[in-house]
Amino acid sequence: MFAALLRAAFILCLALGWTMAAPEAMAQDTIQLPAVQASGGKPLMDALAARHSERSFKEDALSEKQLSELLWAAYGVNREDGKRTVPTARGRNELAVYAVLKTGVYLYDPAKNALTLALAGDHTGDYAKSPLTVLYAAPDNVMGGMHVGSAYQGAGLYCASEGLANVVKSTGADNLKGQLVLPEGFQVLVVQSVGLPG
Ligand SMILES: Cc1cc2nc3c(=O)[nH]c(=O)nc-3n(C[C@H](O)[C@H](O)[C@H](O)COP(=O)(O)O)c2cc1C
Repeated sequence: MFAALLRAAFILCLALGWTMAAPEAMAQDTIQLPAVQASGGKPLMDALAARHSERSFKEDALSEKQLSELLWAAYGVNREDGKRTVPTARGRNELAVYAVLKTGVYLYDPAKNALTLALAGDHTGDYAKSPLTVLYAAPDNVMGGMHVGSAYQGAGLYCASEGLANVVKSTGADNLKGQLVLPEGFQVLVVQSVGLPG
């Protein structure tokens, strides 16, 4: 009985021109990331010694734990008063971090440790085809550049600790210009490709 119903539903979908998308390919409006433990990993001196740029990536997606920890390293909340893993001028947090995943482009919400869909569609091909590209947006001025640099270095050290490949690029920063709606006065200044070493 159930099998017959499932078959009928499938035929109906085909008749209406729908395809049954795999769940992982469907965009969610919000992705709640797993809580960050903020412990473990390589000792800081080992991570600093291992930090380097790497430009070739496997297709495999990062685990949700790795995604959560990487974004936390870049711009997460590390104290009860809401302050971040990176310092910002006057503590104004004039920085926005986006994750380009196969399911869409998401804005990182440090307070909720969640991702909010900002632009639907698979835009990974607009960058280095890495499973994750992090976009760092800020006002295009000296402070903005400093904030972005602090954030990508935190993420880069996390990659060094986790054995992930990453490279920061200014090339491609404008790739979603006119499509991705940024906070007023912000620009994507650099992008960081991340994945398992290819
Ligand atoms: C702000 C910034 C912009 C960069 N832009 C590019 C880029 O457009 N293309 C690229 O291949 N690498 C880019 N890089 C990576 C540098 O080439 C790389 O960091 C440098 O060669 C030193 O290598 P290392 O990171 O392994 O120490 C950029 C790095 C930074 C910090």
